[in-house]
Amino acid sequence: MTLKIHEALVLLVLIASVDAKKNVLFLVSDDMRPNINAYLGPDMPSPVHPKMHTPTLDALASRSLVLKRAYVSQALCSPSRTALLTSRRPDTSHIWQIGPYFRDVGGNFSTLPEYFKRNGYRTIGMGKIFHPGSSSGGDDPVSWTDPYFHAQDKYEDHDQLLCDAISEEREKAQPLQDQLIANNAIKTLQEVAPRAKSGKQPFFVAVGFHKPHISWNYPARFNKFYPLESLRPAPNYYAPVGMPAFAWHNFENFGRYKDVKAYNLSHIGAINFTFPPTLTLELRQAYYSCISYIDYELGRVIQELDNLGLSNNTIISFWGDHGWQLGEHSEWEKQTNFEDATHAPMMIHVPGVTDKGVVTEHLTEFVDLYPTLVEAAELPKLDTCPPNSQNISLCTEGTSMVPLMTNPTMENWKTAAFSQYPRGGDGLHGDITMGYTMRTEMYRYTEWINFKGRPVYKPMWDQVKAAELYDHAKDPEENWNRADDPSYKDVRVELSRKLKKGWRGALPYKRV
Ligand SMILES: *[C@@H]1O[C@H](CO)[C@@H](O)[C@H](O)[C@H]1NC(C)=O
Ligand SMILES: *[C@@H]1O[C@H](CO)[C@@H](O)[C@H](O)[C@H]1NC(C)=O
Ligand SMILES: *[C@@H]1O[C@H](CO)[C@@H](O)[C@H](O)[C@H]1NC(C)=O
Ligand SMILES: *[C@@H]1O[C@H](CO)[C@@H](O)[C@H](O)[C@H]1NC(C)=O
Ligand SMILES: *[C@@H]1O[C@H](CO)[C@@H](O)[C@H](O)[C@H]1NC(C)=O
Repeated sequence: MTLKIHEALVLLVLIASVDAKKNVLFLVSDDMRPNINAYLGPDMPSPVHPKMHTPTLDALASRSLVLKRAYVSQALCSPSRTALLTSRRPDTSHIWQIGPYFRDVGGNFSTLPEYFKRNGYRTIGMGKIFHPGSSSGGDDPVSWTDPYFHAQDKYEDHDQLLCDAISEEREKAQPLQDQLIANNAIKTLQEVAPRAKSGKQPFFVAVGFHKPHISWNYPARFNKFYPLESLRPAPNYYAPVGMPAFAWHNFENFGRYKDVKAYNLSHIGAINFTFPPTLTLELRQAYYSCISYIDYELGRVIQELDNLGLSNNTIISFWGDHGWQLGEHSEWEKQTNFEDATHAPMMIHVPGVTDKGVVTEHLTEFVDLYPTLVEAAELPKLDTCPPNSQNISLCTEGTSMVPLMTNPTMENWKTAAFSQYPRGGDGLHGDITMGYTMRTEMYRYTEWINFKGRPVYKPMWDQVKAAELYDHAKDPEENWNRADDPSYKDVRVELSRKLKKGWRGALPYKRV
């Protein structure tokens, strides 16, 4: 069969469009727990008001794989983001605190955007993707093809308020930080669209929003979705019965804000400290409003993708870098091993694959996103890291979640999700206490043990200082530590064995 020239051209164009690499729009929110309607039910942290206002994320969820039970490697920005962006857990990256940079103290790992860059993508980052500053050597320059963009928060230092609802007038005079980031994202998409659409160069555009991280400055118009009289304090506004002190994070830094100071409170951050009722509800209102504000900004960016005709060839991922305690356990912020701190939102839209919406209740981990996006974009797959992979630039300590997109209840899936939190140092300056925690279908189990810091880097499993066991079937809020309850003796032995085997022991196809 011979083809006429114009027919051959048509065929070539068709092949080119079929082969065009998928773009990636990589969306991140700081400190956003899964208070999104897609998580309504047992997977939403203590819902105490009728409904969240999250239309963008609800719509994105309806055409995404929604990871209902995704867990971070560590509930703190830099360790969590480093783990997600390198697919190495904190014990491999040696990033357990804010400050150190994985390339200095862990290994010269290829990051997720860097891998896309190596595969010919234009990679552009803005806002908070890596933890900025020293933690990422200044936004990890090697990850990006283009200069990095930051917008300043002109409101933060000025008024020193924890809760600052900004009037429309002030907003017009000085746009907020995340509004500027969304504007930049829109401009960037317009710039990369022509080459992406013609198949010349696909893009990986990473947009990191700062809210709902404190301090909470946000457009006042979002308060109307959360009237104070409809809000309630956390149902468990007290620390768990039998909680060891290691589990506690002291949030005394809240006391530095003018609006909190005005209450003349003492012992802010102590175990079982509670804010006065009005302040408690104001804090919750500000946090929820910030979620709706970010939902709105996400909407503007996703809409631009539609406007540019890029939606059907662009993967969209969204995640919040860890959970957040909003008074549950009388705890605030993250920095713990509790469910509320380690459980975070994550969803992935792959055009042509997840369009009808897929929900999985399987346990997943933040280190899983890197191999998932690599597989979804059809780049060469990553091998699983061997132990001590510091010298290997490219490998994964996660599992691609692509199979869940077509089979969200598949039988062979990982049997636990692992997180950890250090107490008493960053692991780089002497010995510390490390809290290793694991979520299984039924339980959360945690051991606080001695950990030999640099240069040994070794968990001392025979030196257990405290343990926590929460039975999620009876106690989904984790209010009652049963580690020393004799009726849980056998369960604890089994969970302790599984915790020590770690993530490799819980991988799919490796069940024992
Ligand atoms: C780290 O890896 C990159 C390539 O990914 C390379 O360009 C760079 O030289 C390496 N740095 C060191 C210190 O080995
Ligand atoms: C905190 O309050 C709870 C509920 O009253 C109580 O069971 C627990 O023992 C208290 N914890 C501490 C450390 O005081
Ligand atoms: C806090 O203390 C200041 C100075 O002592 C006082 O003027 C103010 O009324 C106090 N505020 C509250 C809420 O008690
Ligand atoms: C994507 O949408 C554009 C414009 O609507 C259309 O021309 C193109 O064929 C679509 N591509 C795919 C892969 O569906
Ligand atoms: C990693 O590289 C260092 C320095 O080149 C070497 O001393 C060490 O043995 C290597 N480690 C592994 C696990 O290969």
